Amino acid sequence: MYERVYIFDTTLRDGEQSPGINLNVQEKLEIAAQLERLGVDAIEAGFPVASKGDFEAVKAIAQNIRKPIIVGLARAVEKDIERAWEALKYAARPRIHTFIATSDIHMEYKLKMTPNQVLKRVHETVSFAKSLCPDVEFSAEDGSRTRPEFLFEVIKTAIKAGATAINIPDTVGYGTPQEFGGLIRSIRENVEGIDNIILSVHCHNDLGMAVPNSLSAIQNGANQIECTINGLGERAGNAALEEIVMALKTRKDFYGCETGIVTEEIYRTSRLVSHLTGIHIQPNKAITGANAFAHESGIHQHGMLSNRETYEIMTPESVGLRQSQMVLGKHSGRHAFEEKLEEMGYIHLDADKINQAFEKFKDLADKKKHIMDSDIEALVNEKVIQVPAVYDLEYFHISSGNSTIATSTVQMKTEDEIIQEAACGDGPIDATFKAIDRAAGIEVELKDYYLRAVTSGKDALGEVTVKIGRNGDVFVGRGISTDVIEASARAYVNAINKMLYESEME
Ligand code: KIV
Ligand code: ZN
Repeated sequence: MYERVYIFDTTLRDGEQSPGINLNVQEKLEIAAQLERLGVDAIEAGFPVASKGDFEAVKAIAQNIRKPIIVGLARAVEKDIERAWEALKYAARPRIHTFIATSDIHMEYKLKMTPNQVLKRVHETVSFAKSLCPDVEFSAEDGSRTRPEFLFEVIKTAIKAGATAINIPDTVGYGTPQEFGGLIRSIRENVEGIDNIILSVHCHNDLGMAVPNSLSAIQNGANQIECTINGLGERAGNAALEEIVMALKTRKDFYGCETGIVTEEIYRTSRLVSHLTGIHIQPNKAITGANAFAHESGIHQHGMLSNRETYEIMTPESVGLRQSQMVLGKHSGRHAFEEKLEEMGYIHLDADKINQAFEKFKDLADKKKHIMDSDIEALVNEKVIQVPAVYDLEYFHISSGNSTIATSTVQMKTEDEIIQEAACGDGPIDATFKAIDRAAGIEVELKDYYLRAVTSGKDALGEVTVKIGRNGDVFVGRGISTDVIEASARAYVNAINKMLYESEME
């Protein structure tokens, strides 16, 4: 029997705290549904007291996602805990996660509390959370820099008050694998009652050691890992779920434990999160980077042809990565398209989304001879979640060159009018964005612009991601087309629509 390690995903809470990420309720629900398919044991859905949007997202996830435990974060104060419970009470398996800092530096300078006051607060708030919800997790923030003797006291207090899981965060990513593992072992050895509850860790990646620290914690007795898809999270991020899971799977001989993750769903989850957050994955990232399974050198290719295991320690298929295959062409019908979607694992799309994706596919087939898996993936992702559009881009026209001032004319449609505007700019994309601003009558800051080719070849689909900012909030838009200016304009209009939709919801 292998030891079972629980996977607690905090992409929607700690991950969402990454700079430049702002997911709306629909997007969070879509990610939560995918995390459920991925087989995570717990989803930390948000921090309900933080904002109305966070509250609504946790509530919607609690109402709709039934298999995993749904967790809501709360500081160790009654009003946070109450608010978390209000959102979580709909869940099939709710868990309140409450935390307070326990290191000397945090207690003295941030909390301005003595250790005894902190102990008292732990007792009061964990007891209060327990009176609302049978499953309560307690985190000792900055646990890795807490004096071990005091940490033991804190944990004992939380267990006595009814905690069902204790989490030790390496909040500032300071730990090293040996030292952090040693801390976890000392908790197992010194805290009575710890064996009857879950012992969890939550590692940040400031020194690039979040994954090794988490794995070392497992070797030393942790049985829950808090982690995020693509390693998103505060500052340098959290431990990457896909790296931990694949390390445990590939080196089961060494670690001797397993998770409940359906590893074939890893790639799709990673792409969905990247798509919705607008945070791109570096090509050489372990497990999900574009080059993770690419073998460039002749020696490697030769070895692979003789026996894949010469250079491949896990298969691309095991993380859900399929070779991009030529799939369909302009004569393919709707039935073939649907079959292809099913084969690619898109079994949850409703008829509306399939129709929209099919229409896009037909448009694309007129422009591009061979349509690949990755084209279909981009089309579907574009159609997965669309907020109701205030503006539709009808057409654009540009005039540009290396010795003329770029100008762009756009026509946009709303429910009751058609608006035309023109503008000059530093190049055709800038001019188009300015013309769109004018047509929409708004001013936003362009915070990020990213263009990638979905496949290779001159007729490749271009996928543009833009981030626009207004009043401190960031909105991500995405557009695809074989024409990069059109993809850019669509991405920009999409970001504006999202911004308008969010302000309406507030
Ligand atoms: O990093 C941290 O300490 C946290 C806690 C709230 C668990 O995110
Ligand atoms: Zn954290």
